[in-house]
Amino acid sequence: MIGRLNHVAIAVKNLDASAAVYRNTLGAKVSAVDTLPEHGVKVVFVELPNTKIELLEPLGPTSPIAKFLEKNADGGIHHVCYEVDDIIAARDKLKSEGARVLGDGEPKIGAHGKPVLFLHPKDFCGTLVELEQA
Ligand code: CO
Repeated sequence: MIGRLNHVAIAVKNLDASAAVYRNTLGAKVSAVDTLPEHGVKVVFVELPNTKIELLEPLGPTSPIAKFLEKNADGGIHHVCYEVDDIIAARDKLKSEGARVLGDGEPKIGAHGKPVLFLHPKDFCGTLVELEQA
């Protein structure tokens, strides 16, 4: 059911400094900063030949990323995003197998303007999983 790895997301305390590490030290192509109040994050995408890295900085203390950074002071891998062809069909199959979909279970529009859902880490090897309709 899942397709390509769309991105790996890394939570960071300082987006500008982290973007500079990827741009300058690692020599990658990094997008401009995008602010997504509905997701409580500021984000840049690092473009790699085969996938992307999403760097996430919390937007305010109530951001879900702020809690993650309390437990992971240096930042760290926050979620992985897999592509699916049909997000509603994928959600319904996962729910029928007992997996938990976060929030109200309805897809939201993610950072790429496409529908996304998040799945409970306890059901997926301790890793928060995002599904994006490709
Ligand atoms: Co993501």
